[in-house]
Amino acid sequence: MKAIVVVDKNWGIGKRNDLLFHLSADMAHFKEKTTGKTIIMGSNTLKSFPGGNPLKNRVNIVLWPGGEKRNDCIICNDIEELKKEIGERNTNDIYVVGGAMFYRTMLPYCDTAIVTKVEADGEAEVFFENLDKLEGWTLVRESEKVEDGGYSIKFTEYINKNPKQFI
Ligand SMILES: NC(=O)c1ccc[n+]([C@@H]2O[C@H](COP(=O)([O-])OP(=O)(O)OC[C@H]3O[C@@H](n4cnc5c(N)ncnc54)[C@H](OP(=O)(O)O)[C@@H]3O)[C@@H](O)[C@H]2O)c1
Repeated sequence: MKAIVVVDKNWGIGKRNDLLFHLSADMAHFKEKTTGKTIIMGSNTLKSFPGGNPLKNRVNIVLWPGGEKRNDCIICNDIEELKKEIGERNTNDIYVVGGAMFYRTMLPYCDTAIVTKVEADGEAEVFFENLDKLEGWTLVRESEKVEDGGYSIKFTEYINKNPKQFI
């Protein structure tokens, strides 16, 4: 299982249930990584998508206690239901896509974090873990800087030395 996230210079990820920046190169990167795969998220992240709709061409699984079941995505009302859904799939093809609370829940089970870093302060209200300070996580890849939407960004990858078993 992998986490994929875009962070600002303070590891901030969102405010007012929205992203901090509109970055087309990063969107393309996200699409390239997750298309055809399974993405898993918390309820606020689904609500933050355009029209509150799941993302196309991916299986969308949402942890939403009290959420109603629906046809366009898989709603899990608790962690046990989420484990059952994940157990039926290849964990290498599962991407944790947010938000802050759900990342915090799932990060110990991720073997990799794909992190886009934006060289700016987005005045975030919610944050990702600082992987440079989190025990067990190591930076293994870092791209050159790319200009995107007026910002300087970098594509990076961290690995978790000791991921926990989720299922
Ligand atoms: N920068 C990025 O890459 C990125 C990616 C995704 C999201 N975001 C941003 O992150 C922000 C949303 O973060 P968030 O923390 O508010 O939302 P979230 O993690 O998407 O959703 C939180 C909700 O999901 C359910 N949930 C999550 N973890 C749970 C757990 N362990 N147990 C039970 N239920 C759980 C709960 O639903 P109920 O409230 O229904 O009980 C909880 O209130 C937005 O600003 C969004 O734009 C940023």
